[in-house]
Amino acid sequence: MSEELKGNQFEGKETYVKDVFNEIAEYYDKMNGIMSMGMVKKWHRFMFKKAGDITGKKVCDVGCGTGEISFMAAERVGPEGEVIGVDITPGMLAMAEKKMETMDLPKKVDFRVGDALDMEFDDNTFDLVTSGYMLRNVTNIQQAVNEMYRVLKPGCKVIVAELSKPKNKILRFGYNIYVFHIVPRFGRRFDKGKKIDGKQPAYDWLTSSLEGFPHGDDMVAIFKKAGFSDARFYSKSMGAVNIYVGTKPQ
Ligand SMILES: C[S@@+](CC[C@H](N)C(=O)[O-])C[C@H]1O[C@@H](n2cnc3c(N)ncnc32)[C@H](O)[C@@H]1O
Repeated sequence: MSEELKGNQFEGKETYVKDVFNEIAEYYDKMNGIMSMGMVKKWHRFMFKKAGDITGKKVCDVGCGTGEISFMAAERVGPEGEVIGVDITPGMLAMAEKKMETMDLPKKVDFRVGDALDMEFDDNTFDLVTSGYMLRNVTNIQQAVNEMYRVLKPGCKVIVAELSKPKNKILRFGYNIYVFHIVPRFGRRFDKGKKIDGKQPAYDWLTSSLEGFPHGDDMVAIFKKAGFSDARFYSKSMGAVNIYVGTKPQ
């Protein structure tokens, strides 16, 4: 029998999450476009607007998945820069590599298997750390943000996109119907309702992971606790997504 997943944290989460993303890697981009109603690229462009000029810089994209944010970074850092994409799921990285074969980037992204909670990099390595929609998936959000802080050089920025919930009650009602009913239905076209590790199907997780997941000021508090004293967020698409920005003090 399928095990209902209540809340964002549960035993065996890391394995389950990895298996979910290995399962959906092939159609992840397509579903992302559908679920976000094509807005994903707009959110990512906003992230890089907040990053400013990153020509020649060294960027780490944590939880890079199929590489969409990493590729945008690679286009912006140019041939003198460097982008490393880290993800815990080999299937997602394989898709990123496959996509990269057909791309004409100034320099290839260095995709690596790795855990956001314990990255292989030295302290103060990167000029920019980005991450998109990963934090919902980790077993310890504070630890993941602490790691982003650790690997950033002083004076440099972290920019993280995550799903959120609209504040306005009417918008939230519509949002809940969309996220909890329509998206899993669309997901069925791809995941066929197949249970992952005897638990719920992949696209049920992508929505139920929002249960009890911190957003807005609660998430900003996590960034501040890590050391990003100026952490703030920008609400996008009527509150569906937040972009968190923080600077590591000098
Ligand atoms: C929703 S996807 C987002 C992928 C990509 N950032 C994007 O914008 O499309 C979340 C990604 O986080 C990865 N992930 C989950 N837990 C992780 C961890 N502990 N360390 C590194 N990556 C992780 C998953 O494998 C998955 O590829």
